[in-house]
Amino acid sequence: MTLRYKLACIICTLPGFLAAQNPVRESTGFYQFLSDDPNQKPFFNDRPGTIAKNGMVATAHPDASKVGVEILKAGGNAVDAAVAVQFALAVVHPSAGNLGGGGFLVLRDKTGKSYSIDFREKAPAKGHADMYLDKDGNVIPNSSILGRLASGVPGSVAGMAEAHAKHGKLPWKQLLQPAIDLAEKGVVQTEREARGLNAVKKDISELNPGTKYFINPTGKDWAAGDLLVQKDLGKVLRRIQKKGHDGFYKGKTARRLVKDINRNKEGIISKKDLADYKAQWREPITENYKEYKVITMAPPSSGGVALLQLMRLTEQHPLRKWGWHSDSTIQVMIEAERRVYADRAKFLGDPDFVKVPVETLISKDYLSKRWNDFNWDKATDSKNISGGVFPGYESLETTHFSIVDKEGNAVSLTTTLNGGYGSRVVIKGGGFFMNNEMDDFSVKAGAPNMYGLIGNKANAIAPGKRMLSSMTPTIIEKEGKLLMVVGTPGGSTIITSVYQTILNVLEHGMTMQQSVNALKFHHQWLPDKTTFEANAFSEGAIRKLQDKGYVLEQQRNTIGRMDCILVLPDGSLEGGSDPRGDDTSIGY
Ligand code: DON
Repeated sequence: MTLRYKLACIICTLPGFLAAQNPVRESTGFYQFLSDDPNQKPFFNDRPGTIAKNGMVATAHPDASKVGVEILKAGGNAVDAAVAVQFALAVVHPSAGNLGGGGFLVLRDKTGKSYSIDFREKAPAKGHADMYLDKDGNVIPNSSILGRLASGVPGSVAGMAEAHAKHGKLPWKQLLQPAIDLAEKGVVQTEREARGLNAVKKDISELNPGTKYFINPTGKDWAAGDLLVQKDLGKVLRRIQKKGHDGFYKGKTARRLVKDINRNKEGIISKKDLADYKAQWREPITENYKEYKVITMAPPSSGGVALLQLMRLTEQHPLRKWGWHSDSTIQVMIEAERRVYADRAKFLGDPDFVKVPVETLISKDYLSKRWNDFNWDKATDSKNISGGVFPGYESLETTHFSIVDKEGNAVSLTTTLNGGYGSRVVIKGGGFFMNNEMDDFSVKAGAPNMYGLIGNKANAIAPGKRMLSSMTPTIIEKEGKLLMVVGTPGGSTIITSVYQTILNVLEHGMTMQQSVNALKFHHQWLPDKTTFEANAFSEGAIRKLQDKGYVLEQQRNTIGRMDCILVLPDGSLEGGSDPRGDDTSIGY
């Protein structure tokens, strides 16, 4: 990955000006923070949660949250609001909101039934396992990250059309209108959005010679308060408004996309790839954890499997008693993460192409054996850990939002272009960014992708195959009732951020917003180190863990950008949106 690409991704997640305006709300009960430093605070800042009775929309951008809540007020359900928000985010949050990307939607309806839609991108028909390797079998730097070859066939529009056809209530036309208005009338740039666009200006100009898209018409850098008008994107949205799925995958938009991607033979997405794309309904993973039910995304996301593995691996330990971020709590969480990410690399891939042993991986029997080589006195060495062994197995910049409506329908949706602004290619005549999701495949066995994740055969490229994802849109139920809607962007850290955010509430008694605000850490097997946000660990815990051989690295950028909702005991809703971004919860 070029330094420039890396920097732009980091800038998108750097904390902005985050003054605490209100004191922290009272915690729900047993939360205890054990620190040897009386001045240390467990939270990124003291942002309070948003409480409302009838409905809640938590997204990465205030304009998108407004769109969602207006749809709810107009009588739309959570799916209607999700469709409107997805399209609005494609306009107001172009680093991750998208038409040219893909994602996963998990729905729990008011009757308690759950569903999920996989609208993940697919490898084009001309894709193949070695497409990013040179003649000596080495990975060609950046070939799966920047430019036209980096894109999979986009799935977002198909996903929204499917969701609306099966579960929507309001007319499709009405759901597209807010995004069209935002594109045509313009979006006032926040400081963060302006900073993000400035960071990718050079890539945009180089990859799209002569383009005016996302370049400030004044010729200056973008600044907070500037208006970003996207006329061509508005026209694309109008075609989708008129023709639904086909308004994107056929006709003018499809022709423009194929023409641009195949410019100078740079990319390989064909007209047929687009026409053949279908979003897929998948059975969500629904499994118990203590007295809760976890409803989460199945493969081709690794998120659901990994989340359940993590929760069940640590279920056997008294985290609550040990306290939040005590050295014992951190140690077992790191060791669980090490083992789970090793399994991810070995077993997980697109279930339409490889057999993924989901049931075994999340079974308590298998998981209890994963602790066999755990030693309290010493960090396990990742070199000695690999994906588990069991009989019967043949080798073979993202954004999240959560919505709950007044009837109790809940949507958890994570969507992505992969890196911030994806491949940095903007479709000529379309004005939208294309994804660089091909990098989520294992482009070469054992070679790390842009998140440092290692993969293998299960996640090798094949025509029409979906690349493995870490996106983990999740819903939690308690005693048959909706309790929590959770999710975040963050590449490989998505799984561990969702895991921590859930445990913070269920085990450590935090409110939704406290749990979002809480400082986070991450381990992913390889590289063998634990990264953590500034102040996430006390000096005492750091010393104890280092003595046992743990490599701990405080990182400059933040972890997670959570948008979550918790149902409170009186039935009202607490929106928790991440102060690490422009994220905003709006209820009514
Ligand atoms: O699907 C995945 O796992 C990645 N493409 C997600 C990328 C992501 O979260 C980037 N956001 N910060």
